[in-house]
Amino acid sequence: MSDNNYVRTETADSVATVTIDRQAKLNALNPDVMAEIDGAFAALENDADVRAVILTGAGDKAFVAGADIGTLARMNTVSGARISRDGQEILRRIEMFPRPVIAAVGGYALGGGCELAIACHIRVASERARFGLPEVGLGIIPGYGGTVRLARLVGLGRAVEMILTGDMIGANRAAEIGLANLVVPHGELMDRSTALARRIIRNAPVALEMALKSIYEAAESPMDHAQALESTLFGLLASTTDMKEGMAAFLEKRKADFTGS
Ligand code: COA
Repeated sequence: MSDNNYVRTETADSVATVTIDRQAKLNALNPDVMAEIDGAFAALENDADVRAVILTGAGDKAFVAGADIGTLARMNTVSGARISRDGQEILRRIEMFPRPVIAAVGGYALGGGCELAIACHIRVASERARFGLPEVGLGIIPGYGGTVRLARLVGLGRAVEMILTGDMIGANRAAEIGLANLVVPHGELMDRSTALARRIIRNAPVALEMALKSIYEAAESPMDHAQALESTLFGLLASTTDMKEGMAAFLEKRKADFTGS
């Protein structure tokens, strides 16, 4: 357990849960919260025992209700650009995290909170989840990668609609458009997210890391480059003990025992 003010990390059986806890402000992201999220992921990256991460918000109301509007209200041209850039870097670290990151969304995921959820690799939404990018109603635009990532995730037309209206959508609509991967009863949010993490980490660790690398680099590269990288990573995995073990286990009709090497 870490001793931050707003972000705590707990690990059980190789799955770390990072909880943003600033409930009086619906877990809104002020600079301290952002720094603590960044620190939590930096620490997890160096913790080889952690095989997957679940990111969630404390309390029953919000995942994260956005960047802290009190802080944003004071920004000028220079500090505004810096707030955006710093936030982009922190979310990019999460997106590039070498092990699976699941957002468990049990309430409002608005503005920077929605952007944080879409920087994660998978989103599990409870029936109470509400997603939205209301920034234009405040006279700004999404600044933590939202105008970039949302279109990649749900398509240009839907991203334009969400960003220009600023309207919130519920969990079922989010699942319909691919923003949420699955919708679960509110009381089961953490159990179902943990079960998903456990399902994923039954697979070969290095293969999971290479799969994420290939998928995310491909999303940003021309086809030839993306396929060249895929072949390289595919070949690289042939040198792992886990490939030999995975295939031997299949042929011997037994469960694979992966070591991550
Ligand atoms: N930044 C700062 N404070 C926030 C916040 C944010 N993004 N979102 C919520 N809060 C604070 C509220 O100001 C309130 O604080 P207070 O009790 O000291 O007045 C507290 O969290 C509870 O929020 P409240 O608005 O009373 O809850 P609600 O249930 O009536 O409404 C929301 C919930 C999410 C609809 C509403 O809080 C909201 O619209 N928040 C802003 C969402 C937003 O625009 N996010 C994008 C920011 S770029």
